Amino acid sequence: MDTEKFTDKFYEKYGNRNEKPVLFFSPGRVNLIGEHTDYNGGFVFPCALNYGTYLSVRKIKSNKLKFSTLNFNSDEVAELNGLFVNTGKKWINYPLGVINEFLKKGITIEGMELLYFGDVPNGAGLSSSASIEMVTAVALNELFSAGLSTLELVKMSQKAENEFVGMNCGIMDQFAVGFGRKDHAIYLNCDTLLYENVPIILNDCSLVITNTNKRRGLTDSKYNERRAECDKAVEQLQIYMPIRNLSELTTGEIPLLEKHIQDPVVRQRAKHVISENGRVLEAVKVLKEYNIIRFGELMNESHDSLKEDYEVTGIELDTLVYEGRKLPGVIGTRMTGAGFGGCTVSIVRTKDSARFMKELSVVYTKKTGLVADFYQPEIGNGAGKLDN
Ligand code: GLA
Repeated sequence: MDTEKFTDKFYEKYGNRNEKPVLFFSPGRVNLIGEHTDYNGGFVFPCALNYGTYLSVRKIKSNKLKFSTLNFNSDEVAELNGLFVNTGKKWINYPLGVINEFLKKGITIEGMELLYFGDVPNGAGLSSSASIEMVTAVALNELFSAGLSTLELVKMSQKAENEFVGMNCGIMDQFAVGFGRKDHAIYLNCDTLLYENVPIILNDCSLVITNTNKRRGLTDSKYNERRAECDKAVEQLQIYMPIRNLSELTTGEIPLLEKHIQDPVVRQRAKHVISENGRVLEAVKVLKEYNIIRFGELMNESHDSLKEDYEVTGIELDTLVYEGRKLPGVIGTRMTGAGFGGCTVSIVRTKDSARFMKELSVVYTKKTGLVADFYQPEIGNGAGKLDN
């Protein structure tokens, strides 16, 4: 990203070259392991990417909020006059939801000109939404001297997504995007919110992200359905044991599900959550021992469980994963994010990664008629101000 050019685009849009806008960046994220565990009080292991959302912003003497983006043709204006309401399926719901959270805290917000640019693909399971929310949150925090902590900004962004946008997500995405650290993944306990930055040392291997480019239609409703199924599992288990969430059960207790949960589908969902939580614990342990081979096996098991027990994959993700596993140099490969489309994340020997991308691309198109995109990301820092 050429920050000077971006600032220039800002002037082209809003004029007045005498007042420099302030520049912020918030990454997207990829989750290495620990899927659909966050809203079950479990562990996750995501990292921030070097792709994300840039925001150039300047205060103006008016009660207008002017929004624009370089990603598509869209100029929007909202007036500061009490709390905002959802404006239908518009992208500005993400920033407006965050601005609302500031207003609800009694923080005075003035007029602004805002220009966004995202280089993380939208709706692809790499947290483009959390990235837009957090870049807005860090910018407002700085511009209006709100003095809020990163954790507070993370929670406000999650709330914006839950209550304003209407997606009942857990805390993983906003947390990863807020607390990311270069070359580290975040080992986060979503119940206590205690976390540890774990170095990702892959030696002769690299991360490859593959986008199915499948349009994600029903993701939100299916996601909310899975959440409800987990709640049901907890309710039934609570008859026999004093638990608050599924992650309080260990993998050794999985056989109890057979006895205590009647509905086979609800039982399967609970099994995924508990086994996945166990996999995160082991994955972080083996990674610290530089056992990348076992880490890869756990990634594979994670995908299998998301396919068989949680049923959130689909033909596109499964084709990438199961065809990918046949290729040389693949250490582990799995879907990442909510599922139903979006991306896979793979660990591949660096010397084999070009061949992996080429061959997988061919077989994927042959089997699905879609064209996959590949990214070789770096692990970056969390949201913050940039120099421009
Ligand atoms: C989406 C949600 C997260 C998390 C993942 C699944 O990315 O936003 O909170 O639940 O799905 O692990």
